Amino acid sequence: MDFSDLIYGYEKKVPTQNGFKRYINFDNAASTPPFKGVMDHLLEEALWYSSIHRGSGFKSLHSTAQYESARQIVAEFIGADLSHDIIIFTKNTTDSLNKLSHYLSVLPGEIVVFTKLEHHSNELPWLKAKSLCIGLKDGVLDLGELERVLRVNRGRIKLLAVSGASNVTGYMPPIDTLAEMAHQAGAKIVVDGAQLVPHRPVKIYSSNDPRHLDFLAFSGHKMYAPFGTGVLVGPREIFNKKSPSQVGGGTVKGIGPAGIIWANPPETEEAGSPNVLGALALAKASQILQGIGWDMLIRHETSLLYAALNKIQKIPKINIYGIPTRRQIGVISFNIQGCDHANVAKYLAEKKGIGVRSGCFCARSYVQTLLKLNPCQLQANQEKLIQGIEWQTPGMVRISFGCYNNMKEVDCLVEALQEFCDS
Ligand SMILES: Cc1ncc(COP(=O)(O)O)c(C=O)c1O
Repeated sequence: MDFSDLIYGYEKKVPTQNGFKRYINFDNAASTPPFKGVMDHLLEEALWYSSIHRGSGFKSLHSTAQYESARQIVAEFIGADLSHDIIIFTKNTTDSLNKLSHYLSVLPGEIVVFTKLEHHSNELPWLKAKSLCIGLKDGVLDLGELERVLRVNRGRIKLLAVSGASNVTGYMPPIDTLAEMAHQAGAKIVVDGAQLVPHRPVKIYSSNDPRHLDFLAFSGHKMYAPFGTGVLVGPREIFNKKSPSQVGGGTVKGIGPAGIIWANPPETEEAGSPNVLGALALAKASQILQGIGWDMLIRHETSLLYAALNKIQKIPKINIYGIPTRRQIGVISFNIQGCDHANVAKYLAEKKGIGVRSGCFCARSYVQTLLKLNPCQLQANQEKLIQGIEWQTPGMVRISFGCYNNMKEVDCLVEALQEFCDS
């Protein structure tokens, strides 16, 4: 299987210390390149682009219709029922989760539960409220601890916030089970779908299904539509309850002696001029992903993952983090003994034209746990940050697959890592 032909810029060569080389991108968990189909669609739609909603010209009417139909396409992609749920176009997952934290006013005595796996975007917004963090056991989410926390705090948990897939290890918590557990405890669930949505079919199910996801957030730039749009999905009634998180053009129906009358969601949460082409790109990408077929895509990405795991773990000096499980998207984080993570990433880029990521991946809590940093080390690290001392923070090297990567690229990476270790 080879999906490289779907990608815009796949053949592009980049400068390296060994001359120009075709770029191999293993940093898809951060951002994916665009699908060619998305680019074609944007170029076509740009011909018809104009201001939306209150514009009266032909192009405005066309663009408005396309923007609203993008909402419908995204709703179908994740199985949302627009009579109950709304699709809000945001900037990205971070924006979506911050918006949600604005709407879910957590009252004194109420609790938000999140997990050790979370990206800062699904952790920091919840720290404003009283929150509890569920840890890991044997490398996976500790469902026993979650069950206990939900039982002891029954009726007081407002929200369970969990990643659909970790951007550090690729581990996918069982979101269906988590949704059932949250609902039984009277809580709602938000799934950070930034990593999951581009790699697995995600359905939010109807609101009377115990597996129902109350809220889902994801980003276009991680699903081959890097044009500045993300999505927040949730029940309309929640977004009716409060004034918008950002105010401005498009958010009001009227202003008069009686005050402000807010527009209806989703308009209230799309303040200012919407990113029309971004929304169209995201909707188109969702159609292309479905067109590839999830079975094919999962089979392909999984075969890359296991081939890479198999080969990389044979390199003696490499430590891979997390426990490879069947519930894992194509993400592998590792370190080479005695080598700084940033130097490994630099070597791959400068010598081989291979793009990876190194550091903490905005998931410091999880990364620090996997690195087994003790409280004294954490304290010392923080002191350096406070004092503004420049240093290389502990971290890892991460490779992450997109649907268009292939075995030849995996072999290039493994060869490069072997060379680095031998050098
Ligand atoms: C699991 C996870 N959640 C949230 C985010 C934030 O996504 P964005 O930068 O698109 O807001 C990321 C980005 O890497 C992520 O991996």
